Formats: sequence, C-alpha cells, structure tokens
Amino acid sequence: ERTIWLTRHGESVYNLCNRIGGDSPLTEFGRRYSQALARFVQSFHPPDECSDLTRTEYPKESYGPLSIWTSNLRRARETAEPFDQRFNIKSVRFLNEIYSGVYENMTMEEIQQANPEDFAARQANKLVYRYPGAGGESYIDVIDRLRPGIIELERMETSVLVVTHNVIMRTLLAYFTGIDLQEMPSLNIPLHTLYCLKPKPYGAELIKYRYNS
Ligand code: F6P
Repeated sequence: ERTIWLTRHGESVYNLCNRIGGDSPLTEFGRRYSQALARFVQSFHPPDECSDLTRTEYPKESYGPLSIWTSNLRRARETAEPFDQRFNIKSVRFLNEIYSGVYENMTMEEIQQANPEDFAARQANKLVYRYPGAGGESYIDVIDRLRPGIIELERMETSVLVVTHNVIMRTLLAYFTGIDLQEMPSLNIPLHTLYCLKPKPYGAELIKYRYNS
C-alpha cells in the first residue's frame, strides 16, 4: 500500500528563538527527532530496495519502496541525513518555506516594531499578504509554486516522505484532506509530528504520530 509521509524538519536554531525564514541548522533535539524519524519510517519500507537492512526491523505492514523529498534548506536536508543513503533522496526548491523578503531572519515582535502597518495587514489577511522585498511571497504564491509538485505527488505510485516546512505542510494537508482555504493559514502543524497520508478513492486517510521525547 502506498503512503505519503509528511513532516516539518526537526527543531532548528531559529525555531528556538522564534526567527522566521533563514537557513539555520538543526538543534540537538532536532537531530534526535531526525534519527527517530528515520528509524520509524524505514521500519515501514521493505528491505528489497536496501538489501542490507535487517528484515527483523520490519513490521508485517509494509508500504513498498520509498522516495524522500526535502526542501533545499539546511534544516530539511539535515532532517533526512540519518536515512539510509540508498533511498532516493532529492532536495527541491519548491518545498522551501514561504520567503519573507525583507523580514527574513526576524522575529514577529521585530517585524511589528519595524512596520506596524505591514504586521497588521498580514494579521488581517495572511492568505493574500505578500512579504515585501525581492522574492517575498504570500500563501497564494506558495500554493502556485507547489501545484506541479502536488500533481507529481498524486501521480507517483511509490511511497514518498516529504520533509518540509510549516506553510508547505499547511498547504499540502489542506489540499489532501479538503480543508477550507480560509482556514489553512492558521492550521496548527507542530514540530516533531509525522503525518501518514494514505490516498483513497474518496479522500485520504490521515494518521498522526507525535515524537514523544
Ligand atoms: O516559524 C517557523 C516558520 O516556518 C517560518 O519560517 C515561517 O515564516 C512561519 O513559520 C510561517 O508561519 P506563519 O505564516 O503562521 O507566520
């Protein structure tokens, strides 16, 4: 049975100090999640593709070969590092976090102080608010850049693990489970939570796993 695993990257240095965007590395806690993630997800995929993984580690239920897609930001790539290198791991830009233009690397408090009007405009409508500055994005821009990736995800016949970011997770989960677009920007997607999505003829089944450490 095919499955789509979805997770945010492990805890990053910027998560700890509430800074948005940027390209910070994982914290020690984030690295521990990435190791637990690899052990857990690999246990569902048969060793045919990775013949020297020990069979005893695999449960009865198995979801076939696995591809791994990460964004090309450091925190997402580091989260996939503990995986057996024989899995096909690709890092792609369309899975990168929303780009916050001139506000990259800042905290929400700093943004509010620097520009209260911008801050209020975003609060009023997160979906259409586009961050100012070169390459700045809105949620709608992110949805647009994700479209081809979603089509590819739907067409694939093998299982995939997607290691990505808050806004991308919100978009993908809302798309696959039919959550309203207006609600999507406020979905709570915690760190260190793995979503297992199984596409069905009608809708999708979703199981959520929390890292309890
Ligand atoms: O704080 C982590 C983060 O992924 C930021 O990099 C990003 O700007 C933010 O979450 C997106 O969430 P929101 O749209 O709620 O600000």
